[in-house]
Amino acid sequence: MDLSFDDRVAIITGAGGALGRSHALELARRGAKVVVNDLGGSVHGEGGAPAAAQQVVDEIVASGGEAVANFDSVTNPQSIVQSALDAFGRVDILVNNAGILRDKAFHNMSVEDIDAVLDVHLRGAMALTQLAFKLMREQRYGRIINTTSASGLFGNFGQANYGAAKAGLFGLTRVLAQEGARANIFVNAVAPLARSRMTEGLLGDLTDLLDPKSVTAVVTYLAHESCELNGYVYSVAGGRVARIFMAETRGIVLPSLTPEAVRDNFEAINDLDGYFVPGSLTEALEAVQQALKEQL
Ligand code: NAI
Repeated sequence: MDLSFDDRVAIITGAGGALGRSHALELARRGAKVVVNDLGGSVHGEGGAPAAAQQVVDEIVASGGEAVANFDSVTNPQSIVQSALDAFGRVDILVNNAGILRDKAFHNMSVEDIDAVLDVHLRGAMALTQLAFKLMREQRYGRIINTTSASGLFGNFGQANYGAAKAGLFGLTRVLAQEGARANIFVNAVAPLARSRMTEGLLGDLTDLLDPKSVTAVVTYLAHESCELNGYVYSVAGGRVARIFMAETRGIVLPSLTPEAVRDNFEAINDLDGYFVPGSLTEALEAVQQALKEQL
């Protein structure tokens, strides 16, 4: 049976751009009432124009769907939640997708370049999520999808600000997955690769294969009430979907750890054989406890 979103209300930030627009159109096509948020600035976060969000709303309405536009920055999250409440009375789904780039080698990066990127990707998304999360707790239902990036999870030259913000979203996803679970609020993330103005000129001959729609397919599933995944991160690029996770190696346990012992054992410490994927801090601590007890 197709996944439908009748009576669900979704906020999608940055929904005037490539990925957000695709998510908004698809959720609306499947019956969701959508708040299309986008301040319509440049890829570097300068300026703003209502056309970006309005065009997507017009497209949705023209196809018989329901949507309203919100032209504010995610750094003004109250306005976005208020748009959802005024138009539709609730918030079931939040897709944190808005983003900008201010790429530079770290030694040349200004404080403003750092703040602008952290403000949109991390602080804005976090503040908006907190408002939505409170509403979701009250109604005991919610689905939140964050947009992280391989840049932050694996590292990429020239993106210290962006990578730090995107890695921050990974931490937020993990923590909220645990805090929200009992209230039926599930929080996951995607690390996309898709053609957009952000990746213009970077994708080479993969450009045609990297349709934002494939990222939307994963986001749509994660946004559905039948999806019980919580705290997961998926790399999505064209038709390829893979899980990204944080893991620990088995490591070593020595009765007395000295710098020389670390030097002499680094291969064993780094050995990926038998790595472990803790589901929480508690599970990570249990593994430590067990390893330490085994040496007694
Ligand atoms: P895009 O530039 O087409 O879309 C981003 C949208 O966010 C734009 O429409 C922009 O106006 C909006 N926006 C920027 N600042 C905003 C703010 N303060 N408040 C509200 N809206 C704001 O780029 P794309 O590729 O669609 O990016 C979407 C998300 O996916 C971003 O978070 C990006 O970092 C992430 N991403 C994209 C990748 C790709 O391959 N396209 C790779 C990894 C992550």
